[in-house]
Amino acid sequence: MLSFNQQTKIYQIATPIEFVEQFKLSNTDFIVASKSCYETYFAKIISDCTVVFKSDYGIGEPTDEMIYALRNDFTKGNYQRIVAIGGGSVIDMAKILVLKSNDSTSDLFEKKQDLIKSKQLIAIPTTCGAGSEVSNISIAKLSNKKSKYGIANDALYPDCAIIMPMLLQNLPYFAFATSSIDALIHAMESFVSSKSNIYTSLFSTKAITMILDAIKQIEIKGQDHYKDLLGDFLVASNFAGIAFSNTGTGAVHAISYPLSGVYDVMHGQANYQFLCSVFQLYNDSKQKGKIDELNIILANCLNCEISDVYTTLQERLNVLLPINKLSDYGMTFDDIVIFANSVVIDQQRLLKNSYIDITKQQIIKIYTDQF
Ligand SMILES: [Fe+2]
Repeated sequence: MLSFNQQTKIYQIATPIEFVEQFKLSNTDFIVASKSCYETYFAKIISDCTVVFKSDYGIGEPTDEMIYALRNDFTKGNYQRIVAIGGGSVIDMAKILVLKSNDSTSDLFEKKQDLIKSKQLIAIPTTCGAGSEVSNISIAKLSNKKSKYGIANDALYPDCAIIMPMLLQNLPYFAFATSSIDALIHAMESFVSSKSNIYTSLFSTKAITMILDAIKQIEIKGQDHYKDLLGDFLVASNFAGIAFSNTGTGAVHAISYPLSGVYDVMHGQANYQFLCSVFQLYNDSKQKGKIDELNIILANCLNCEISDVYTTLQERLNVLLPINKLSDYGMTFDDIVIFANSVVIDQQRLLKNSYIDITKQQIIKIYTDQF
């Protein structure tokens, strides 16, 4: 059985100019970027590449319609390499461009057929959450469905990931908080996944301890201190990406997808809503297993009793970002069963990785408890 797979070369590069020189960018490169980051750090030093911005295609997280328009523009030139500069949404959209396929974008996400890679991809993350720069996963919202769908296929591994903390310096606090909580969730879901093993646990454990240690420092020194720790958060999110690319994420992501899909709640924030309730359920349902090991790691990081880890974790994360009620996003009681059905029917890819076989009734209770 394959225990560990990582197909992306990881580079730590200090500045954009060093990247441009080392990778010899030319007119056969197609750049997909977050506009503000590109204009701040790259515009003056790149001259002969075709550049498009995610905002040209739409706002928010990727949809099949946005990816369709991007694929259309990409096919107008003869590009050999794609450079994605941005958060998880930018990198996830760019991943689809490497594929040799005439299928519609929604077919790619729904049919899950064999995928053939025909272009190179360099991924440069500008947030500290998704880990998409080292994962074989792309996520999009499909217009004919009210939820998000993912493809997990080795053809989607970026060829190179560039870790450049400098690019995160202008990351707003809210984006930082939601991304870093998302990275913590990747690491925790990976750690207890049914596919977790000693190799993936190495990366997920390190990511969990780095993120919780850094959050502790922010709690002590004040919110503005996050800017001094972005390099740590970026590496931690990269480690979490390496871990979950092997194990998948689980029920937290699955349960969050309808909330993001219907009410456009940011990915990390939607996941955050369900993190502690899902893990408390895991802990209450099956105490012997990986959750035991996770509880010890969390109790050490949070300096609390093992029996209190999830209430303490929620308190600590509340300092970083206060948690909302689901009604604050517009979600209604009528949505609960619709969302739970959608999770059970459409998110088996994620649910099968979960620590327990979570039932529809348990999902309904998790939603209901958040009102
Ligand atoms: Fe995530």
